[in-house]
Amino acid sequence: MKSIAIFASGSGSNFQAIIDAIQEGKLDAQVNLLVCDQPNAFVIERAKNAGIPSFVFQAKQYKSKEAYETEIIEELNKRDVEFVVLAGYMRLIGPGFLNEYQGRIVNIHPSLLPAFPGKDAIGQAIRAGVKESGVTVHFVDEGMDTGPMIAQEAVSIDVNDTSESLQPKIHAIEHKLYPAVLQRLFSQGGNKNDEKARTY
Ligand code: GRF
Repeated sequence: MKSIAIFASGSGSNFQAIIDAIQEGKLDAQVNLLVCDQPNAFVIERAKNAGIPSFVFQAKQYKSKEAYETEIIEELNKRDVEFVVLAGYMRLIGPGFLNEYQGRIVNIHPSLLPAFPGKDAIGQAIRAGVKESGVTVHFVDEGMDTGPMIAQEAVSIDVNDTSESLQPKIHAIEHKLYPAVLQRLFSQGGNKNDEKARTY
């Protein structure tokens, strides 16, 4: 069973979907830690309710990204975390961390990358007037939403859609896709260098 840490900054609906999938026997993993950079984020409540320990930090209290990421790595090591799952974590991962967890960090993004990387991807799609957007799960590299893609699922955008009406459609896809992709990855070894991990 894979031991994972989930990194999140907000509501944590994807965090919840992952722990629910584990509970339901659909995902063979154990969430050993939540890492959160926003002390008021609702995801912390979700972790408490599920009995999952949290490491909560504020970036502004550290000298540098390297300083807080060094602490995060210590926490991950303490808990034997093998794999890192970003789920609405609003920070780029630094080079030292990437090196430590090479090929073992994934992210979910609410667009069909490479379209609409960065913040407010749902609003970006609405403003661009595209007829289709979706969700991407990808390995994390030093860029913003740029690493090798693992899976994508599309959703059509109706003429009357707004950010508010598109968001629940995107979330519904994310909540199914992320646990399913993780399960496939883990059953194949869960490493970027494993060729099979990238062939679906
Ligand atoms: C999701 O839409 C995810 O794709 C993006 O951030 C959002 C997080 O939502 N990276 P939640 O906190 O999981 O509800």
